[in-house]
Amino acid sequence: MEVLSGSNIFSNNPEKEYATMVSLEHRQRFAQFFTPYPIAKFMANWITSNPNCQTILDPALGLGVFVRAILEDADKRYYIKGYETDSLILDKAKSIIDNQEIQLLNKDYMFNDWGNKYDGIIANPPYLKFHDYSDKNEILKEFHSRLGLVLTGFTNLYTLFLLKSIHQLNEGGRAAYLIPSEFLNSDYGKNVKKYLIKDKSLRKVIIFDFKENVFDDALTTASIFLFENNNKQNAAVEFITIKTIDELYQLKTIPAEDNENLGQK
Ligand SMILES: C[S@@+](CC[C@H](N)C(=O)[O-])C[C@H]1O[C@@H](n2cnc3c(N)ncnc32)[C@H](O)[C@@H]1O
Repeated sequence: MEVLSGSNIFSNNPEKEYATMVSLEHRQRFAQFFTPYPIAKFMANWITSNPNCQTILDPALGLGVFVRAILEDADKRYYIKGYETDSLILDKAKSIIDNQEIQLLNKDYMFNDWGNKYDGIIANPPYLKFHDYSDKNEILKEFHSRLGLVLTGFTNLYTLFLLKSIHQLNEGGRAAYLIPSEFLNSDYGKNVKKYLIKDKSLRKVIIFDFKENVFDDALTTASIFLFENNNKQNAAVEFITIKTIDELYQLKTIPAEDNENLGQK
């Protein structure tokens, strides 16, 4: 197996190297579209600026860009778990993330972990048709019994990741999800949006409206959804459109104890 060199893991170097080693076909089969490092840092800050954060889940690990972003300036220990169905990419991730407190599992997130809760959940979930899943009825039953949601087999996998993760947030926990903006206007997103409104943990939707193709085609129409599982009575969702990557850096993350400002750590 070709191994990653491990050079500067606090950047997108591992993803760039991986793209030269692995065919586009393989990457597309698993929906391996990677998060730009500055965006991963921003999302990681949202999770770790909760002072009570100890346990963190990345349900769609890839090369672990979020884990790397969290470890880069971690001033305490986190217990991190990652799920990844592609053993090829998982082995490469393991070769660059070497830490005993991190559990990286070659398992399908849809079938595992329903019973666990986390203080932080961070993800760029796979954009794949759920329709193609062989055991989809089993999964849909799980969503019905655990979340009371009736979903069709025509949804996209990333919405199921999102719903499951919200269900797995501890009291006071935070989640950050990178998802396609089309979700906001899609038909299949309707039920999911209703659930989010009822659940009341969604705090911010940051919509990228980049005029220039800063990172990648896919990202020009992406959004970051930020959740916090507390103060649900007064919850309001703020929609923020950003036109340049600099505007993202200027945003601050909200400290868990007061929702007054957004602030970078
Ligand atoms: C969009 S990529 C994101 C990778 C990385 N987190 C990032 O942001 O760069 C999604 C990853 O999830 C993996 N994946 C696909 N289906 C999965 C599933 N059912 N359970 C766990 N991982 C899955 C893919 O192999 C891929 O590496």
